[in-house]
Amino acid sequence: MVMYNRITAAAYRLLNQNKHSSFKIAHQRQLSPNFSRYNRSSSTSLAGFRHHCATVNLNQFHASYRWDLQKLSLVQFQNLSLIHHRSFGSVASTVVQRNPMFSTINSDDLIYFEKILGVKKVIQDHEELQTANTDWMHKYKGSSKLMLQPENATELSQILEYCNSRRLAVVPQGGNTGLVGGSVPVFDEIIINTRRMNSIIFFDKVSGVLVCEAGCILENLISFLDKEGFIMPLDLGAKGSCQIGGNISTNAGGLRLVRYGSLHGTVLGLEVVLANGSVIDMLGTLRKDNTGYDLKHLFIGSEGSLAIITKVSILTSPKLSSVNIAFLACQDYISCQKLLFQAKRRLGEILSAFEFLDAQAMNLVLHHLDGARNPLPSAIYNFYVLIETTGSNESNDKEKLEAFLVHAMESSLVSDGALAQDYSQATSFWHIREGIPEALMKAGAVYKYDLSLPVEKMYDLVEEMRIRLGAAANVVGYGHLGDGNLHLNVSAPQYDDAILAQIEPFVYEWTSRHRGSISAEHGLGLMKAEKIYYSKSSETVQLMASIKKILDPNGILNPYKVIPSSLVS
Ligand code: FAD
Ligand code: MLT
Ligand code: ZN
Repeated sequence: MVMYNRITAAAYRLLNQNKHSSFKIAHQRQLSPNFSRYNRSSSTSLAGFRHHCATVNLNQFHASYRWDLQKLSLVQFQNLSLIHHRSFGSVASTVVQRNPMFSTINSDDLIYFEKILGVKKVIQDHEELQTANTDWMHKYKGSSKLMLQPENATELSQILEYCNSRRLAVVPQGGNTGLVGGSVPVFDEIIINTRRMNSIIFFDKVSGVLVCEAGCILENLISFLDKEGFIMPLDLGAKGSCQIGGNISTNAGGLRLVRYGSLHGTVLGLEVVLANGSVIDMLGTLRKDNTGYDLKHLFIGSEGSLAIITKVSILTSPKLSSVNIAFLACQDYISCQKLLFQAKRRLGEILSAFEFLDAQAMNLVLHHLDGARNPLPSAIYNFYVLIETTGSNESNDKEKLEAFLVHAMESSLVSDGALAQDYSQATSFWHIREGIPEALMKAGAVYKYDLSLPVEKMYDLVEEMRIRLGAAANVVGYGHLGDGNLHLNVSAPQYDDAILAQIEPFVYEWTSRHRGSISAEHGLGLMKAEKIYYSKSSETVQLMASIKKILDPNGILNPYKVIPSSLVS
């Protein structure tokens, strides 16, 4: 282990017995049988509390999930039909017609692909295709008969040039963890999977610039950088499967955006292959380059509709030695907001995550997620906030965090809290937050919305949705509060059109009325392609369609996604 991380070792539990009097530690508890005990102090200030130091590997910090799609139950292939109806969440209203301009694959096509790629990279195996045709949520199912796995941009270029000339539609696929139906075919599009493009090309320790292929799994990059003393500027629950090319194509946000910013800031360069097979080298490694239009930004967040990303240059950050994670309980949403306000001021540059979940999310996790333990088990609180700090000066960071927590307790913003004392506790805190999507999946049907909203308004939507749905469904709110990103999820035993009709278009209209975005970080995919007007003007959408027409005149790249079909077919 080359690098290590120190975290505050004293796990504590804070009970604010007397709201406006000075803060007391009234009681302490072991968070798990394995956690080490700490000195008991019946009435002491937090600053006087004893802390230990634990040495942990930052790489072990997060619970990581490998979404093994092979293990998920397999779906029946659908017959290829012109009209494709779906019967669940948000897609019930989406009726997509197969573009008749597209060809279907024939034996000559297969011969060509085998000639340029070799048989191993031309996949027709039924089981592999079933997996690749199905998204992570098991909500979107295509009926592709072919998956290609090019190993480099040259092979991909030959594939796309051929597909374009034959008008064979394709869907780019990375780790297939996308949540809006963007990564799987709608009909019989050829799946182009990037998993074989998985080399790290270059890493510069001085600048922190990493250049790699698009198919590198995010967690592998995190591990690689850990050994070099660096971290990726993004992290998300799907890190064990998602690929950096998929992350950039969706402009993924994740758990640390509040600190490291969006991929539009950290991606320095890209290599992409256009629909006609042209390889475009924009693989700069400079932080500053004002020589005309910065075209790489077009491809960040374009969800495979403009090109396929093959190489990536990204700015990584030095790994800092002091990481602290607090899991706090708040009685109401206004306290969460005030806590965020205070955290930005009092923790400032060391704040690296500010996540929240409500009681409904916590309940789901505790019921459905293996290994989930409530760090604050004496009660179910209305809201929970996970705050992470990352800095380089352990005593300074600790002091700052403690002062912040004391203030939060004294001003009654926080009702209860625990601070991780070692990596196992840190992991168990993150497990709760990162495990919400899995818990929701296990609970049954889930209608998933990913919204950018003003923080002060955000939770009103959850409450209004609860009133609309009554006992018909469980409305759950969680997300990246520090970024103004709400994940509104409606959980029900099974998909039901009556529930969907209560949710949509209400959720989009509400978001639009509050000048929010109907996609904060997951993208539009198939789910929201036709809903784009809730967040973009018709002129903007028209301009997007014109750009798509220039780069992909035959519309073969990820059809039916992102842009309304009427504008591109
Ligand atoms: P895929 O799902 O394979 O593809 C996503 C889209 O990108 C598709 O439209 C696909 O066509 C396109 N694409 C993929 N690779 C390429 C390429 N090389 N070139 C061009 N287009 C390409 N998202 C967040 O933003 N924040 C989160 O915190 C977050 N947490 C998640 C947690 C879980 C448990 C899960 C299951 C998902 C989560 N997601 C999150 C959503 C998802 O993981 C991200 O969108 C991720 O970036 C997708 O990467 P992927 O490699 O799986 O892409
Ligand atoms: C998350 O923040 O957990 C992800 O975006 C996934 C989700 O919203 O379910
Ligand atoms: Zn998210």
